[in-house]
Amino acid sequence: MGSSRSQKVVIFLLAVNLLAVVYAIVVYNKTLESGMSRAASTAEKREEANVPVHNVSIGWTRPNTIYGLIHVAKTAGTEINKMLSNKYERVCGNKGYSYDAVRREKNRYAHAADWVDIMFRHPKAQALWGGGVWNRARVPIEIMEERGFEDCDYIAHEESADKWEQIYKQWPIELHVPCREPISHLMSMCNFQKNWVKIIKDDFNCNAPDLIREIQKCDVGLWRMHKQLLNQQNVTLKCFDPMPPQRYLDYMDKFLQPKRVQLKVKDRVINSVAHNKSEECVWHQTEKWRNNLIQIMRENHLFYKFCHDCLGTSDELPLAPVAAVNSNTK
Ligand SMILES: *[C@@H]1O[C@H](CO)[C@@H](O)[C@H](O)[C@H]1NC(C)=O
Ligand SMILES: *[C@@H]1O[C@H](CO)[C@@H](O)[C@H](O)[C@H]1NC(C)=O
Ligand SMILES: *[C@@H]1O[C@H](CO)[C@@H](O)[C@H](O)[C@H]1NC(C)=O
Ligand SMILES: *[C@@H]1O[C@H](CO)[C@@H](O)[C@H](O)[C@H]1NC(C)=O
Repeated sequence: MGSSRSQKVVIFLLAVNLLAVVYAIVVYNKTLESGMSRAASTAEKREEANVPVHNVSIGWTRPNTIYGLIHVAKTAGTEINKMLSNKYERVCGNKGYSYDAVRREKNRYAHAADWVDIMFRHPKAQALWGGGVWNRARVPIEIMEERGFEDCDYIAHEESADKWEQIYKQWPIELHVPCREPISHLMSMCNFQKNWVKIIKDDFNCNAPDLIREIQKCDVGLWRMHKQLLNQQNVTLKCFDPMPPQRYLDYMDKFLQPKRVQLKVKDRVINSVAHNKSEECVWHQTEKWRNNLIQIMRENHLFYKFCHDCLGTSDELPLAPVAAVNSNTK
């Protein structure tokens, strides 16, 4: 008797328990559902009022693409690389990175120890790349590749086109091609070859029977613009006039994240050795002659052809007019 009584008590208690569990589930369900609908309506209201969930003036939203500079010699590429890495985060270039830009620029002209970091003074580095030439503002491609490009928003390469492959195989990239007025650019290269690196002995000769060879003599890296970059799934090519470079720097300000510590540094003149235009034969020729030279340049170098085809189209970056920059900056 006693045992059947206690069995009833157990069954009663179990029933009470079961009810409590069902009740809890129902309440929980209702709470969840009302919470969900509240969240949904808040999201709708946000969308209506167009209020961002995160305050963008506090955080930073990376652009959907990364940017790259095809650093063709004598197109202000060093200035651009240097200035962007001084001002913005995650710029990676052989002429300087954002992360050590302060040490780079502060000690650059003082030849202090920070200028050439320990890595470049290592005997192994000296053996690999020769002494003294490499530093924070002249980073060997092997070091760039070892660091990797995973954290770069902007990459500047003074290298052959195949070096872009490891980047565009992984991420979409918008590559910027610096297109100067072609004959000024050619003269700038000739001057560099003759008076700075002293690789050639003679000036560009307007009377030479073979102008293709005269152009080749001065070529400092026109091959950095290569057909392998055309029609690549992940590569968007854009052109811009880099003279004066400030217009391009102002344009990139829309896409790159400002750094907490920005160094003000002096701009360098584009050519390491100034050249004297009146001593350059091309400027004493007829316009027809110069147009013919430009034609030869286009036919023999993709870089000049690409620039010609791109400038003035929707693929040219919309930089501010030259006059606007001149009045804003000195
Ligand atoms: C609440 O219960 C209903 C049915 O009664 C069910 O369709 C719904 O998925 C439940 N919600 C949650 C959040 O479990
Ligand atoms: C975002 O942050 C800025 C700076 O702190 C502030 O002035 C602004 O009111 C904020 N905007 C919103 C929508 O919270
Ligand atoms: C383009 O980039 C995507 C990743 O964004 C990658 O999966 C794809 O293989 C790349 N395509 C080419 C042709 O490199
Ligand atoms: C440029 O060259 C011309 C001719 O050789 C010379 O008369 C002139 O003084 C030079 N100008 C400069 C700024 O060196």
